[in-house]
Amino acid sequence: MAALSKAAEQQIVEICDRYRDTATPLIMILSDIQNEYGYVPPEAQAIVSRETGISVAKIYGVVTFYSFFSLVPNGKYVIGCCLGTACYVKGAQAVIDKFSELLGIDPGQTTPDGMFTLDALRCIGACGIAPAVSVNGKVYPKLTPDKVPEIIEEYRTKEAKSA
Ligand code: FES
Repeated sequence: MAALSKAAEQQIVEICDRYRDTATPLIMILSDIQNEYGYVPPEAQAIVSRETGISVAKIYGVVTFYSFFSLVPNGKYVIGCCLGTACYVKGAQAVIDKFSELLGIDPGQTTPDGMFTLDALRCIGACGIAPAVSVNGKVYPKLTPDKVPEIIEEYRTKEAKSA
């Protein structure tokens, strides 16, 4: 959405209109934009500010505070590594470090080919199978760093087959 199209701009105005009568509309507006576009770019934040009168600084603060919101488009496959307590004590840091090392990105970043986004998450509700990782919602249980290469390979192979 780097160069925001007229249609996209209109759609964001419409999203703002949905919550005109809501006392605290910001989270709902930003959630709808995130769900619609997969991220909340600065251009969209500027429109929300114009439409709601909420400062860009406040909007930016909310977008960067909640991990649900993203400032850049996510990769095709979003790898969510749980760093909640149960996962952490069972070695989740080593797992996410391995993803980082093999993909060449830090948590919160996307690979240059747009294939993978790496996210550090709080508890994803799978503590019994810690450390847990989800890829586009598919949960991988009891991960260890040595299993990380085959997960990445699984998605690279899937992508190669669909190309
Ligand atoms: S702490 Fe990781 S799933 Fe609960």
